Amino acid sequence: MSLLAYSYRVPLCVPYWNGATYRNILYALASGGVVDGPDLGRLKSLLIDKLDLAEAVLCGSGSLAVEIALRSCGVREGDEVVIPTFCCTAVVAPILAAGAIPVLADAGEELNITAEAVDAVLTEKTRAIVVPHLFGNPANIDPVIEIARARNIRVIDDAAQAVGATIGGRPAGSFGDAGVLSFGSEKVCFGLGGGVVVSRQKEVLNGGSQTKLAPPRLSPAVRSFFSTTIWRRWRRWTLPVKAALSHVKGTGPDSPPVPYRQESMANLNATVALSLLETLDENIAARRARVGAYQDLLGTEEGLELIPHRGGSACLTQVVRVFPKTRVADPAARLIQVLGSAGYEVQGSYVPIHLLSRYRQWVREPLPYAERLWGDLIELPCEPEVSFDHMERIALIVKQVLNS
Ligand SMILES: Cc1ncc(COP(=O)(O)O)c(C=O)c1O
Repeated sequence: MSLLAYSYRVPLCVPYWNGATYRNILYALASGGVVDGPDLGRLKSLLIDKLDLAEAVLCGSGSLAVEIALRSCGVREGDEVVIPTFCCTAVVAPILAAGAIPVLADAGEELNITAEAVDAVLTEKTRAIVVPHLFGNPANIDPVIEIARARNIRVIDDAAQAVGATIGGRPAGSFGDAGVLSFGSEKVCFGLGGGVVVSRQKEVLNGGSQTKLAPPRLSPAVRSFFSTTIWRRWRRWTLPVKAALSHVKGTGPDSPPVPYRQESMANLNATVALSLLETLDENIAARRARVGAYQDLLGTEEGLELIPHRGGSACLTQVVRVFPKTRVADPAARLIQVLGSAGYEVQGSYVPIHLLSRYRQWVREPLPYAERLWGDLIELPCEPEVSFDHMERIALIVKQVLNS
C-alpha cells in the first residue's frame, strides 16, 4: 500500500487536547510530577464531587478498574460474570484475572446489553453483571439492576466509553454497586490511560483500603506519554511515518487484549485527565452536534440506519447500520474502504466476542441479534475536531457508495 494511503485528513480517534493540556503536561514533567503529585488527589476529589460518590480508587487502566470492581463486589474463583457479546474484548481479561467465568449475553436494538438478554443467561453461579455504555450511549441499566437485586447479584456500571454521559440526569458510572471510568485509548476522555473504580456505597470499595496496587513506574508513564502524543494525538502526520517504519501492525479483533499492569494511576495521567474533565462539557456538546449533523445528512437515506443515541449520551461515535440488501455486496466493508481512500479513517464495529475463536468456549445460548448485525455496522467519527465540511463529505461518500 502506498504511504499516501496512510495520510488521513480525518484519522481515527484523535484525543481532544488543547493548549492547557500540553502546558499541564510540561509542568508535570518539569516539576518531577510524573509518578506522584497533587493531581492524583485533585482528580479523586473532583470525581467524588462530580459523580456524588462515596469513594473512588484511581488505577492504571479501565481494565484494572473492572477487575477491582469485580473483586470488591465479592466475585471469586468459579463465579459467573455476565457481559455483552457485542463489546470490546478488554472486559474479558479482568473477569479471567478475578478467576471468574465470562458469560456472554446478546445485544439489544440499541447495541447495548438489555435486561431480557441478561435474564436469558443468569444461573445460580452468576455473581455480577457488567453493563457497558457502548459508543458513549447509555444502556438501560435500571431494569438490569432490578433483576440483579432480586437475585443478590452485583451490577458494575461500566462507563469506560461514556465518561460525561448521564441517565435521567445522573452520571453514567454512578449506578449499580460499583462503576468504572477510563481515560484510555479511543474514549471520550482519551488521555494517557488510567481508570477509576467508583461507588456511591462506602462499604463496596472499603475506603479503597482493600486495593493494594503497586506504585506506577516512571518509564512506562513517560513511554505512554510519548507514544500517545506522537502516534495518536499527531496521528494525521505520524501514521505515514509509522507505516514507513513498518510499525502498522494488524491488530485484529482476535488478537489477545494488551495485558494491563497492576498499578495505581501516575500523576501525569491524572494531570491529563483533569484537563480533559475541564473541557468535557464542550467536548460532549461538540460530539452531540456531530451526531445531530449526521442525522440531518443521512437520517432519511434509504438502506441505512443511524443507531440512535439516547438523551444524555456522550456520543463517542455514530454507529451506522448498512442494510445488506443494497446493490453493493458487503456495503459496510466497501464503505470503510472508499472512505479510507478519501482520507477518512473509519472502522467497522465489534466482532461479537463469541465469534472470536479464543472466546468461543463461553457462549451458552444462541446470540442471534449480535451475530446478524455486526458485519453491517460502521462507526462514523464524532470528535470535536471533525469539521462539518468533513461530515458533509463523509455523508456524500456514504450516499454514493450505497447508490453505486
Ligand atoms: C466497555 C469498556 N470497559 C473497559 C475498558 C477498558 O478500559 P481501558 O482501555 O482503560 O483499559 C474498555 C476499553 O476499551 C471498554 O470499552
